[in-house]
Amino acid sequence: MTEPARIVVLVSGSGSNLQALLDATDDPAYGARVVAVGADRDAIAGLDRAAAAGVPTFVERVKDHPDREQWDAALTARVAEHRPDLVISAGFLKLVGPRFLAAFGDRYLNTHNTLLPAFPGIHGPRDALAYGVKVTGATLFFVDAGMDTGPIVAQVAVPVCDDDDVDTLTERIKEAERRQLVEQVGRLVREGWTITGRKVTVP
Ligand code: GRF
Repeated sequence: MTEPARIVVLVSGSGSNLQALLDATDDPAYGARVVAVGADRDAIAGLDRAAAAGVPTFVERVKDHPDREQWDAALTARVAEHRPDLVISAGFLKLVGPRFLAAFGDRYLNTHNTLLPAFPGIHGPRDALAYGVKVTGATLFFVDAGMDTGPIVAQVAVPVCDDDDVDTLTERIKEAERRQLVEQVGRLVREGWTITGRKVTVP
């Protein structure tokens, strides 16, 4: 039997996407396990969820380093210690730097809570609502040097309801986003992937 793929998850907040991955990876047939969870801040629910699951954690805060470049190098080294096959940003609110991308750029996934390329950045659902779109959703993509610009793995559409506010829309997106993340990460680790230009192919 082949070894399960090694996943490192990066978080900055509540970690509900992380929890979905932790639950999925309980099943050996899923094909992966979460070997570490990293964060850019302490005292967040995402780290508590990892600890409760018995997964090692680490924290690299930008302000503990002289500059962003050295933070990037430290984060890269911490992630590399765990020899990941896949690194997943699940609500990680920092853009990584060139060193991190050189090490993990073809295996660093992010999930974003709109249908990219519309509404990148940290206020996606708010911006989508303000624009008045009738459909939004979630996008899973491989991270490149831009903000929410990398090659797309999968997208799921979520309708915007007339009475939505930012909270209700954000929550409805998160439900679809978690399902997509678990489904697509499982597919990637079991079947592999290639990235050619902007196109991601799963054989
Ligand atoms: C997700 O909706 C993600 O798209 C956004 O932040 C949220 C993270 O939620 N960038 P959680 O920490 O996984 O609960």
